[in-house]
Amino acid sequence: MTITASTAPDLNSIDGLSAFERACRQPMMLGLFLPIQNGGWTPSTVPRGTDWSFDYNARLVVRAEEVGFDLVFGLAQWLGAEGWGGATRYRRNSLDPMLVTSGVAALTRNIMLISTIHVLYGWHPLHLAKFGATLDHMTGGRWGLNLVTGFHKDEIAMFGLPRIEHDARYDMAAEFTEMVERLWREEADVTWAGDYWSLEEAFASPKPVRGRPVMVNAGSSDAGIAYAARYSDLIFITSPGGADIDAALDSLPAHTRRIKAEAARHGREVRTIINPMIICRESEAEVRAARDRILAGEDGVAVDNLMGGFAGGDQTSWRGHRREQRIIGGNLQLFGTPEQIVDWFVKLKAAGCDGMQIAFVDFAPELEHFAERILPLMREAGLRNDAAPVG
Ligand SMILES: Cc1cc2nc3c(=O)[nH]c(=O)nc-3n(C[C@H](O)[C@H](O)[C@H](O)COP(=O)(O)O)c2cc1C
Repeated sequence: MTITASTAPDLNSIDGLSAFERACRQPMMLGLFLPIQNGGWTPSTVPRGTDWSFDYNARLVVRAEEVGFDLVFGLAQWLGAEGWGGATRYRRNSLDPMLVTSGVAALTRNIMLISTIHVLYGWHPLHLAKFGATLDHMTGGRWGLNLVTGFHKDEIAMFGLPRIEHDARYDMAAEFTEMVERLWREEADVTWAGDYWSLEEAFASPKPVRGRPVMVNAGSSDAGIAYAARYSDLIFITSPGGADIDAALDSLPAHTRRIKAEAARHGREVRTIINPMIICRESEAEVRAARDRILAGEDGVAVDNLMGGFAGGDQTSWRGHRREQRIIGGNLQLFGTPEQIVDWFVKLKAAGCDGMQIAFVDFAPELEHFAERILPLMREAGLRNDAAPVG
C-alpha cells in the first residue's frame, strides 16, 4: 500500500492557535454533548432519530465542526444489565467516550475532542500519560481530558473496588493528575512513591503536542471546586438553583465568581461551561407541543430509577432537579424560540458562563436548526465572532 496523503491534522490549519485557544477567543464557547448512550439525556419514548451508535455520533461531530462548534464530549458511565431500566432500558448501551474520541480524530481537523475518564476505576497514571499523549497526537493537539472521579455508588463496586469517601476521591484525583502531568513534562525517568500510586523509573513519550492537553472537570462541591481551581482549564458547571433558567440566573453569578476567584488564588484562569437542554421552535406554541410530547412519552420506571440514583449519591451537582425535568434532561433547560434562546445565552454569559455544552432531544435535525436559526442570532448578539460556514 502506498500512503499518498497525510491523515495528520495540520496544527496550523487556521491560525497557529490551539483548538482551546481558539475556543477561548469566542465570547461564548460552544460544545455539543454527544448522545453516545441510548436515550441520550431523555428517558422518553418520543419518536426521534437520536442514536447511541458510533456512526450517528461521528456524523454529529463532523457536522458540529462544519457549523463552527468548538468542542464535543460524551458521558462515561457504567450501568447494570437493565441500564436505568424501564421500557427503553435507558442508557443500557453506552459507548466509551475515549474510544469514540479516538475514532473521530481522523474525521475532523479543528474541533476539540474531550474524553471523559473515570480515573479511579483501576487506571494507573502511566496508562493515561501514554494513552492521552497518543490521542493528543492523533488529534493534532485537540484532545482534552474530562477527569471524573465517579459519583454513582454502584459503579466502583463493578470494578471490585471499595467505595471511596467523597473528598478522598478528589484527593486521589489530585495525586493522579500530578503524576500524569509530571510524566507529560519530564524528559527523564520518574520515580515517585505517592499515597495512592507509585512510579518506578517510569517514562512516557511522546509528550503531548502542546505541553499539556486541556484538562476538564465537572465538580460542584467544595472539594470538586478546589480540585478544578488547581488543575482544570475548563469546568463543566451546574446551576446551584436547579434546572429552571430564572433560578439558574439568580444562583450562577455567585457560583461562577467563586470558581474563578479560587482559580485566581492559584494564579490560574479557568473557563466555565454549562449544559443546557435546548428545545427550540419558531413559536412558543410549537415549543410547548414538543415539550408535552416528550413528557407524554416518559419512560416512568427509568425516570424513577434515575431520580433514585441521584438521590442515593453524594454529589453536590444537580440538586433541586424536579421529576419532569429529568424526563427531558439537561442541567439547565432552555425551551423557547430562537430569539428567546439567544436572549438567555446573553444573560447566562453575564452570569459568568463562558460556554454552552448543548444537548438536544432529537440531535441531528435540532443541530441543523441551531446552525440555521440560533447561530446567526448569536453572531448578531456578539456571542460568536466566527464567520458563517460556507455551503
Ligand atoms: C456536564 C457534566 C458532565 C459530567 N459527566 C460525567 C460523566 O461522564 N461521568 C461521571 O461519572 N460523572 C460526570 N459528571 C459528574 C461530575 O464529574 C461530578 O462527579 C459531579 O458533578 C459531582 O460533583 P461533586 O463531587 O463535586 O459534588 C458530569 C458532571 C457535569 C456537570
